[in-house]
Amino acid sequence: MSLDRGRLLQWFREGRARSREIFAIPKPETYYERPIPLRNPIVFYEGHLPAFVVNTLIKLSLKQPGVDVGYEVLFERGIDPENIDAANPSSSQWPSRRCVQEYGAKADALIEHALREEAIEDDGGEAATAILEHEQMHQETLLYMFHEMPYEKKNARKPLCPSSPLGTRHSALGTVKIPAGIATVGNDGGFGWDNEFPAHRVEVPAFEIDRYNVTNGQYLDYMRATGAAPPHFWAKRDGNWFWRGMFELTPLPLDAPVYAMHDEAAAFAEWCGKQVPSEAQYHRAAFGTPSGEERLYPWGNEPPDATRGNFDFANWDPVPVGSYPAGASAWGIHDLVGNGWEWTSTRFAGFKGFRPMVSYPNYSIDFFDGQHYVLKGASPATARDLVRRSFRNWFRPNYPFVYASFRCASCIA
Ligand code: AVJ
Ligand code: FE
Repeated sequence: MSLDRGRLLQWFREGRARSREIFAIPKPETYYERPIPLRNPIVFYEGHLPAFVVNTLIKLSLKQPGVDVGYEVLFERGIDPENIDAANPSSSQWPSRRCVQEYGAKADALIEHALREEAIEDDGGEAATAILEHEQMHQETLLYMFHEMPYEKKNARKPLCPSSPLGTRHSALGTVKIPAGIATVGNDGGFGWDNEFPAHRVEVPAFEIDRYNVTNGQYLDYMRATGAAPPHFWAKRDGNWFWRGMFELTPLPLDAPVYAMHDEAAAFAEWCGKQVPSEAQYHRAAFGTPSGEERLYPWGNEPPDATRGNFDFANWDPVPVGSYPAGASAWGIHDLVGNGWEWTSTRFAGFKGFRPMVSYPNYSIDFFDGQHYVLKGASPATARDLVRRSFRNWFRPNYPFVYASFRCASCIA
């Protein structure tokens, strides 16, 4: 198999450039702070991105020496602890930013050399692709982490690539009936992470699903009716609800999707006498068609672009539901990809026949613990390259920081 090295190199450089832009959001004096107390400080992530590539591509895959063994251990892995006590307290002495950046520059030079000249096709390009997608996944992690920082600790920013919502808005109401049918779940071609394999067919009984994501307005009504607690992304000022946006508080946009935890989504759905969809129901709603054909994306087989949904850093925050009619699925269901990941009721686990990937054996297995749920789709901070039918995200049901939306579904008797 021949790889397009020029494309990989360009992808690598664009990824590094975007990460640099993102690391410029927090003011420099916050470098050792933990915007999310359960996660590592900012310094870790600036070291982790290059160190991960050295560990994965240079050392494990190509069997060549790295740059600095100490850094490659210190910056090896992030954390996903259950509680604050498990989030290793300031046990390690973090290096200076200059040293971290010098390490990054050396690693980048080594990586570019490898992408140009070394035997990266020996594993079918798996390690090379994995490191590029890994960088992009962390761009989202960084953005939702920086979202938590007080505004005065951030440099105000314009959108990375400005765009505005397209098309006409619809009122956020209505459900769609999906007849019984087959959904192909998993990756049936091209690069994927280990948890995407093997592809398999699932029989999905008939069900009904919301045409749009549950909005802030609907959630507000639910809160008033039930006394449920406000979502993490809301703030109350002088008796009024505001959206805690990336760079400013704005009056709560009632027609934008509510970002919520899995537990909140499940409770809302239960109150409606429904559930959040299973992973297979999501697939059927997003990629299925009335004729039985399955497509690569909700809108068809054309590659993702800015008309299809709120992803690929088009916006810092969600936009009103139904803003991208050109991204609707064959059933007329909106925003299945973009404007917030979609919670499913499916616990994260390997598909039958799962095998850990060679280039990153620990990517998934540590999280097959029954404590994480699958999310599908994409958020505004999800790179276009990760918009893939088989891509699976996962988080704990009470993790409030991610850009995650939901909709309700119910079986049809
Ligand atoms: C797939 C987003 C859940 O951030 O924990 C990054 C991705 N894995 N480095 C995470 C990941 C290792 C992962 N998520
Ligand atoms: Fe990582």
